[in-house]
Amino acid sequence: MAKKILVTGAAGFIGCEVSLILLSKGYTVVGIDNMNSYYQVSLKEDRLKRLEHPQFSFCKMDLADAAAMTDLFAREKFDGVIHLGAQAGVRYSLQNPQAYVDSNITGFLNVLECCRKFPQYQDAVQYGRPGVQAFEPLCGDQA
Ligand SMILES: NC(=O)c1ccc[n+]([C@@H]2O[C@H](COP(=O)([O-])OP(=O)(O)OC[C@H]3O[C@@H](n4cnc5c(N)ncnc54)[C@H](O)[C@@H]3O)[C@@H](O)[C@H]2O)c1
Repeated sequence: MAKKILVTGAAGFIGCEVSLILLSKGYTVVGIDNMNSYYQVSLKEDRLKRLEHPQFSFCKMDLADAAAMTDLFAREKFDGVIHLGAQAGVRYSLQNPQAYVDSNITGFLNVLECCRKFPQYQDAVQYGRPGVQAFEPLCGDQA
């Protein structure tokens, strides 16, 4: 059965492209994004249209919602997680620092906690170990 990968920030610039590559390689992809209005939401909606594919499903949800994240991980039993959902932009951090705490600190912690809670993510601890790859290379030559 195709490996199922969670891509956070799937409606974002990088998350969309990574999801498309994963789909082209036969993975099943679950994308999540809160579709916030930090920049034009229509750009994110257009990316989701590009992701329409039988192996892609999307949940509009917030990384900072610990209960929803736990439910998602329990339900979907991912084989891997690519975390690209984040609040970017240095200047905006002065206008809306809470958005950074919610997405980049609380949201990231929730991703890590979900990976830790569910036994199927044991491989995640192997990140960074020499000779161990969580994914096949998505593009380019293998280093
Ligand atoms: N674009 C670049 O050139 C670049 C370079 C280096 C690093 N990065 C990093 O890569 C990551 C993705 O960047 P990007 O350019 O795709 O940004 P992006 O803003 O286009 O995508 C991020 C996505 O995350 C979503 N998101 C934000 N907070 C969320 C939350 N709380 N819950 C759910 N979804 C949420 C946004 O709606 C957005 O669609 C970021 O961490 C960024 O700092 C980007």
